[in-house]
Amino acid sequence: MKIAHFSRWGFLMAAVGSAVGLGNIWKFPYITGEYGGGAFVLVYLLTVVLVGFSVMIAEMLIGYLGRRDGVGAFEDLAPRHKERWKYAGFMGLSGTLVMFYYSVVIGWIFYYITLSFGTLPATIPEAEGIYNHLMTQGIGVQIFFHTLSFMIVTAVLVRGIKGGIERFNLILMPALMLIIAGMLVYVMNLENFSKALSYMFVPDWGRLTSEAFAVAVGHAFFTLSLGMGAIMIYSASLEKSSNLVRASIFVIITDTLIALAAGLVLFTLLFQYGAEPAKGPGLVFISLPSVFHAMGLVGNVLAVLFFLALAFAGLTSSVSLVEPMIQYLIDRWNMSRIKAAVSMGLFFYVFGIVAIFSLNTDTASYLTWGGKNFFDWVDYMTSNVLLPLAGLIMAIFVGYVVEKERVASVLQEQMGWFYPIWRCSVRYIAPVALFVVMLNLMGLIEF
Ligand code: PHE
Repeated sequence: MKIAHFSRWGFLMAAVGSAVGLGNIWKFPYITGEYGGGAFVLVYLLTVVLVGFSVMIAEMLIGYLGRRDGVGAFEDLAPRHKERWKYAGFMGLSGTLVMFYYSVVIGWIFYYITLSFGTLPATIPEAEGIYNHLMTQGIGVQIFFHTLSFMIVTAVLVRGIKGGIERFNLILMPALMLIIAGMLVYVMNLENFSKALSYMFVPDWGRLTSEAFAVAVGHAFFTLSLGMGAIMIYSASLEKSSNLVRASIFVIITDTLIALAAGLVLFTLLFQYGAEPAKGPGLVFISLPSVFHAMGLVGNVLAVLFFLALAFAGLTSSVSLVEPMIQYLIDRWNMSRIKAAVSMGLFFYVFGIVAIFSLNTDTASYLTWGGKNFFDWVDYMTSNVLLPLAGLIMAIFVGYVVEKERVASVLQEQMGWFYPIWRCSVRYIAPVALFVVMLNLMGLIEF
């Protein structure tokens, strides 16, 4: 099997492109708002540093040593019980399932880009009206923009690692960073910036429920793109001389800074214009547009830039969500890239349409089970079950199954004194943390 190599900068941008996604700019601010600010942010940051970092290195290592599709990598690296470990590799293919809803949300963002050029909703009730209408009745609009998202993602993936994924990320990621940095500088000069700072960084422990705690930990994994095979498949295309530890640090710091910057931008604007920070998933689609409206023409410009940045973030993550499955089909089923990319594209496209119908008033009842519609089920199963489970399995795999010498041969020199600490983290801390959080996210335990 032949996998093209990323350039050094190309890999970093692709990995950051994967990590920085809807999770950073859409989800992080709204869950921070819902779960009450500072304490939530602190738990998230601690998880990123204490567990996320070591699991990211573990996932990179599997890809880097395996140098092939996820299933093959697990097989190759398990000295015994290849057959059994192969199934762990299949877990690393679950990213395509995330696309069932991810692509739909990117579609909403496209729609909001078009709105931003015209008249934005003047009041929150008006904004709520537009959003609710889109969700519950706007099947045509949603399918139209979901189709656009499917076409862009598939077109990039058809071109492969070098000409597609690397090039795409090398253009979009710097653009996204510039937009977010520019907006941050803008809000720093607003009066309510300090209020946003204290909202996000002064912990109010009373508000940290056990659910908030688990969501913060779960989100730390989601935002770093762990447990879906994305980081693994990109690492399979790393140059042999690459430094995994430095790459992980770069990805983690950039991802975190962008999430925090996006949060500060959003909360400053919301406070400045007296809008509600705890609005749930509609935060950037309801509260924010009316804030942009209140700012006049500047607001339109900011709105276009903001939603563009959000679309860039979503699209660059999307390609990493589908690529593991494509590489699997190429390696294992001998498919051509174009066939693999198009069939995977169609796969998430069709289920994306099911997700859209599951939100619609007329059809929701057919696509809702146990109080959750199809859209929410996919989000729940991928973020709360598959992702932590795969993270747990990867940590155990690298910590106990892959030969110690092989792990050490790559990481010992790159880590130095930190190596034993990392090893302890993947063997003990990460598995226990992930297990507990998974049970909590599934509602099986409380703490
Ligand atoms: N990290 C992305 C985000 O924050 C989502 C993602 C998860 C992408 C897993 C790839 C793999 O939105």
